[in-house]
Amino acid sequence: MVNLGVLVSGSGSNLQSIIDSIEAGTLEASVKVVITDNPEAYALERAKKHRIPSVVLHKKDYRTREEFDSAVVRELREHRVELVVLAGFMRIISPVMLEAFPMRIMNIHPSLLPAFPGLDVQRKALEHGVKFSGCTVHFVDGGLDSGPIIIQAVVPVLDADTPETLSKRILAEEHRIYPHAIRLFSEGRLNILGRRVFVEKGPEASGTMENPKITVPRS
Ligand code: GAR
Repeated sequence: MVNLGVLVSGSGSNLQSIIDSIEAGTLEASVKVVITDNPEAYALERAKKHRIPSVVLHKKDYRTREEFDSAVVRELREHRVELVVLAGFMRIISPVMLEAFPMRIMNIHPSLLPAFPGLDVQRKALEHGVKFSGCTVHFVDGGLDSGPIIIQAVVPVLDADTPETLSKRILAEEHRIYPHAIRLFSEGRLNILGRRVFVEKGPEASGTMENPKITVPRS
């Protein structure tokens, strides 16, 4: 069992997938608090519906990123949070939070990192012409979407895709892998060695994929 603090800026569909996994009994965790920098975030409605305490911190009330993050850390500590879950939280994390929760902050990102860090990445993936994209859950370090990778899921990029259709396909995978990554953490099965994260007794992927499909026998 692990106490979560979920940080959000928008719709909160990843927050919802975590709540649903907990309620379905497939994730032994408890969302102790939802924190946002956006008073309009739909994620707040989701928290309310499930009777989860939420906190809105207004950027304009803090002079620096560090002051904002200190307020976040205070809330997280007050709610006895053990793992910080960034779920569509659109701010860079400062050393203040990283030092308070070393290797205890996870993020989900809608690309196969290290390809396409940053923003608007589904559009960038399409423009680059990649044949596969996907999503990544990683521990947060001092860089931009750069910390040790826990799990990734791959989706094909189709000829007819727009940023919207690709985002939707990726988001469906996000909702599968984020609760799973948190489950591995709560079971104490994640071992970090340098940049690599090893999963204790985890089955590994097998086989290969290609896109477009090869329909003649391989030579
Ligand atoms: C998700 O696609 C998440 O991967 C992305 O924002 C979306 C939030 O959706 N996060 C980032 O781009 C962070 N760099 P949600 O609010 O419905 O969970």
